[in-house]
Amino acid sequence: MSIINIDLSPMAYKIHIKPLSPMSFNTKIAIITNPKISGLHISYLLKNITAKEIHIITINDGEKYKNMQTVDFILEQLFNYKFDRDSTLIAFGGGIVGDITGFTASIYQRGIDYIQIPTTLLSQVDSSVGGKTGINNTFGKNLIGTFNQPNCVYIDTHFLSTLDIRETRAGIAEIIKMAICFDHNFFEFIKNNNLNDISILQKTIQKSVEIKARVVTEDEKEKGQRAKLNYGHTFGHIIENQTNYTKYLHGEAVSIGIIMANKLALSLGLISKQEDAIITKILQKYELPTYYKIDNIDEFYKQFFLDKKTKNQKLKFILPLGIGNSAIKEDIDEKIIKNILRNFNE
Ligand code: GLY
Repeated sequence: MSIINIDLSPMAYKIHIKPLSPMSFNTKIAIITNPKISGLHISYLLKNITAKEIHIITINDGEKYKNMQTVDFILEQLFNYKFDRDSTLIAFGGGIVGDITGFTASIYQRGIDYIQIPTTLLSQVDSSVGGKTGINNTFGKNLIGTFNQPNCVYIDTHFLSTLDIRETRAGIAEIIKMAICFDHNFFEFIKNNNLNDISILQKTIQKSVEIKARVVTEDEKEKGQRAKLNYGHTFGHIIENQTNYTKYLHGEAVSIGIIMANKLALSLGLISKQEDAIITKILQKYELPTYYKIDNIDEFYKQFFLDKKTKNQKLKFILPLGIGNSAIKEDIDEKIIKNILRNFNE
């Protein structure tokens, strides 16, 4: 049980890591969720909530539904229920539910409150914390969105008991990412322990959230340090987009992206062969994918320019500096990057 603070004065909020306890609202609330989470856990949540009115809005599950149409669907219902500026949304699900709910909350009547109750490992260790909201469009992933901090985050590991093994592994990819980028000792802990053990996993959730909260507190709007959380994502987002958000879970695409970023880091002398091998081995230990066949190198390269870190047509890559540290690198020669992509196919 713990409470981690994010202080973005004048705004601040708490991340509670503990079993849910009763919450009471003297306003209307809407719980945004998906059919699976609703079926499994809505009664557990409802037991802990009282409010002036409680509405449940169920959206389709899957990255391909994280779009403007789903946002519109939620907005319509909020208008029908006559939500006002005091009303609150509760994101009850994984990263997709969290991102859409946060985005909808930021635009409904120019902004209403929302709370994150993440139910997947990935959303508990990363996406529910820090206020990034968004949806996808045909150009790519999360290209439309806002920075909109939740009022509170409740992380209850009870929800992980029903999580599909692939979803668990996808979350582990983000935990490993956090350690490689920011904390060598944390990486050693992961390396020497089995994250399939729930008490070990709980420790890594705590540590990941601490790291994330520190990074977000220092750099809410991703002007520097926070971009490092995108390690593996620059490549991963392209892979997700090229496979229509159906083949890989986000964390799985990030796993492949980490390996791709490492190959680039290796060619620039930022990590050693041995470090690259240790990282690959850990991802494989949790049966995360580490290979992707790039059909068209030029097309893949072109998609880097849609990355939100790209400014003035200058690409930026988050690369590891050994294990436990990372850097934002730009001005990497096109030939070097394309060479890495080509070699990745062999
Ligand atoms: N998931 C990366 C970030 O929140 O910045």
